Amino acid sequence: MTRPLRIGIAGLGTVGASVIQILDRQNAVVAQRGGRPVEVVAVSARDKTKNRGFDLSRFTWFDDPVALVKAENVDCVVELVGGSEGAALETVRTALSLGKHVVTANKALLAKHGLELAKLAEDKGVSLAFEASVAGGIPIIKVLCEALPGNTVSRLYGILNGTCNYILSRMELEGLTFAECLKDAQRLGYAEADPTFDVEGFDTAHKLAILTSLAFGTEVDADAIYVEGISSITPLDLSMASELGFRIKLLGVAERTKTGIEQRVHPTMVPKSSAIAQVMGVTNAVTIDADAVKELTLIGPGAGGDATASAVVADIADVASGKAEPPFGRSVARLEKAERAPMQRHEGGYYIRLTVHDRPGVAAGVATRMAEADISLESILQKRSEVAATQDPHGRSGAPVSLVLITYAATEAAIRSAVEKISADGLIAEPPQVIRIERD
Ligand code: NAP
Ligand code: HSE
Repeated sequence: MTRPLRIGIAGLGTVGASVIQILDRQNAVVAQRGGRPVEVVAVSARDKTKNRGFDLSRFTWFDDPVALVKAENVDCVVELVGGSEGAALETVRTALSLGKHVVTANKALLAKHGLELAKLAEDKGVSLAFEASVAGGIPIIKVLCEALPGNTVSRLYGILNGTCNYILSRMELEGLTFAECLKDAQRLGYAEADPTFDVEGFDTAHKLAILTSLAFGTEVDADAIYVEGISSITPLDLSMASELGFRIKLLGVAERTKTGIEQRVHPTMVPKSSAIAQVMGVTNAVTIDADAVKELTLIGPGAGGDATASAVVADIADVASGKAEPPFGRSVARLEKAERAPMQRHEGGYYIRLTVHDRPGVAAGVATRMAEADISLESILQKRSEVAATQDPHGRSGAPVSLVLITYAATEAAIRSAVEKISADGLIAEPPQVIRIERD
């Protein structure tokens, strides 16, 4: 009888608890796939007394995850604590240094320390597997590592954060507030321990950094990513977008350009008719543009205990089977240092919502600044202000009113310069809202 793979799980929260439950019910299948039984022998979390919905007495308990790693009977450590430093980093570093396999869902850790940890895993000849770190239950890492050697990838983009997509979907469809939606996402186990990582775009950036490395064969470079989150998106933007035929999504985009690899995360207006606009709720989607396969899109649940645990368990089965590929698809020494494409050179359409003072000459002033920056306007939409509707028939009150511009393709640098000048001209009453448009 083959010796079982003995697992120690550090972290028994949303994902850790689901991993134990899935391993309980799928044990025979996992053993078949891995070629040997898989046995959870030890667990660690902060609070031993917490009810986790299953019997803990069958496992050896450790208050300290590093002590769990050092336990002699643990062959493979499953790190589900979270965070790029502290307990998670020490757990993974120690495990790899001791020549133990690691499975993790921790994108923050990989985005920051991925190269160092991958090198350690290579040197020790053990696995560092992280399918669950990107896009929850979607097997995107496997696809990038195993399925596309006949392709050169030119672009990869997607909805990589379930919490943000859930929030934007419910705000748009149900008219709920940002705070209500975020609270529900937390209750459902979608959000990070600190949800700022979700809503300010950092979680998407961590995932994008991992995917960019796998797709382009480059070193993980999270610091190169331009990041904007969704916390400034208002119900007015969602309804304006809808009126103009768009939906707003938080996208992560990595693209090979003439000046290098562009990596960006920001709210994006996508045509309502596009495939990505149909992806709602906690669902994620990743599209890969490559020369041979052309376009490949994977869609599935992006967060939540079971969906994420599904990916963790797939990695555990791979470890059991003895499969130990280089973590980033090729050895660390063969990853290239990517040239960073500056965001200022990004080119595309833009939605610009200005809260202007309602009076003669304001629209002309805005149009002049756009023309000076060589920006061509595709459409303009202004709503009559409440004041104009009742007491200002000549439109001279200066009351705040929304003026929305949709531009043809322009550079980021030109848009920023025009908007700065419009602000300096005193034409607007509030900071402008600028959202990039992605049409295909
Ligand atoms: P979580 O619910 O907050 O669970 C974290 C677990 O780690 C808890 O059991 C906690 O113990 C334990 N823990 C925290 N600090 C510890 C320490 N210093 N020592 C020992 N144990 C400690 O988090 P989660 O949602 O399961 O996420 C876990 C990881 O998966 C994170 O890296 C996250 O980014 C990633 N991930 C999550 C999802 C998702 O949908 N939730 C999806 C993909 C990836 P107590 O329970 O005793 O407090
Ligand atoms: N907080 C993350 C999300 C979990 O909402 O997508 C999945 O990585």
